Amino acid sequence: MTKIKVFVTRRIPKPGLDILQQHCDVQFWDSDEAIPQDELLKKVQGVGALLCMLTDKIDDEVLAKAGENLRIVSTMSVGYEHIDLEACKRRGIAVTNTPNVSTDSVSELTVSLLLLVARRLYEGIRAVHVGEWGKWKPMWLCGVELTNKTVGILGLGRIGYGVAKRLKPFGIERIIYHDVCRVSYADDIGATYVDFPTLLSDSDMICICCNLTPQTKHKFNTKAFEKMKNSAVLVNSGRGGVIQHDDLYEALRTNTIAAAGLDVTEPEPLPKDHPLLTLNNCIVLPHMGSNTWESRNSMSEIAAANIISVLNGTNAVGEVIP
Ligand code: DGY
Repeated sequence: MTKIKVFVTRRIPKPGLDILQQHCDVQFWDSDEAIPQDELLKKVQGVGALLCMLTDKIDDEVLAKAGENLRIVSTMSVGYEHIDLEACKRRGIAVTNTPNVSTDSVSELTVSLLLLVARRLYEGIRAVHVGEWGKWKPMWLCGVELTNKTVGILGLGRIGYGVAKRLKPFGIERIIYHDVCRVSYADDIGATYVDFPTLLSDSDMICICCNLTPQTKHKFNTKAFEKMKNSAVLVNSGRGGVIQHDDLYEALRTNTIAAAGLDVTEPEPLPKDHPLLTLNNCIVLPHMGSNTWESRNSMSEIAAANIISVLNGTNAVGEVIP
């Protein structure tokens, strides 16, 4: 029997590749770097399934090039804003993602980033490296503690909940959250639902853990920063587009808010001459929230298993479009 053709847009961890190779005729872009769009357009021709990354633009042109055999686009990510869902729906193509398996890794990274920024650890490391570490000074590199603070979470989904659960033992006084709706498990961590203006005004630290949607696009802008405390620390591990970056630069430069830690930016990668990178009170990481072997192996397995499930007509994990 002829095996279904699958194209994988990158080198992926072995567990996922093994699953695919058992069942399908697999071709992949043999690089750690993103496939150029013109190569993608060539490689998808005639495939029955496409395993892609969040950096691949899966638009109607790609779907058209793939042709009528294409039954599933399986993204090895939680986010799926790079896929034209409407076009997939119209063409009867299933779309799946890899939820759950990066919840712990992204939650851990978010907490790390919050501590890194709140305690000015990066400035400390840099000071040691460049020889600025002189005699002990009482007010040098003083940050703020998490103890007795109010933490605000935008988006109390799996990751927001994972962050809140991990922060609670630090002696957080109050956890407040804002989301599209109230969530039942907020009670488990004693989190209180508030409207967005209250999230801004009452939080000492805010963690952005939501998706990018038309509703969350540039939700953090000058108007929002002006409502926040001057001492507030902002951390974003959701999507870069939730923050208006020019406004953030101004808010940080003028100490409208105290500091920010970004694992996601708009655009990605952030150009190395971006104004945000000139500030001491802004830490930028290269979108590495789910960079653990545990997450990456599981993400590849689920992305591959989703392809097999859809081809076999059974339910896949994380069906965005069944
Ligand atoms: C995702 O899975 O969408 C993450 O942002 C990648 O780490």
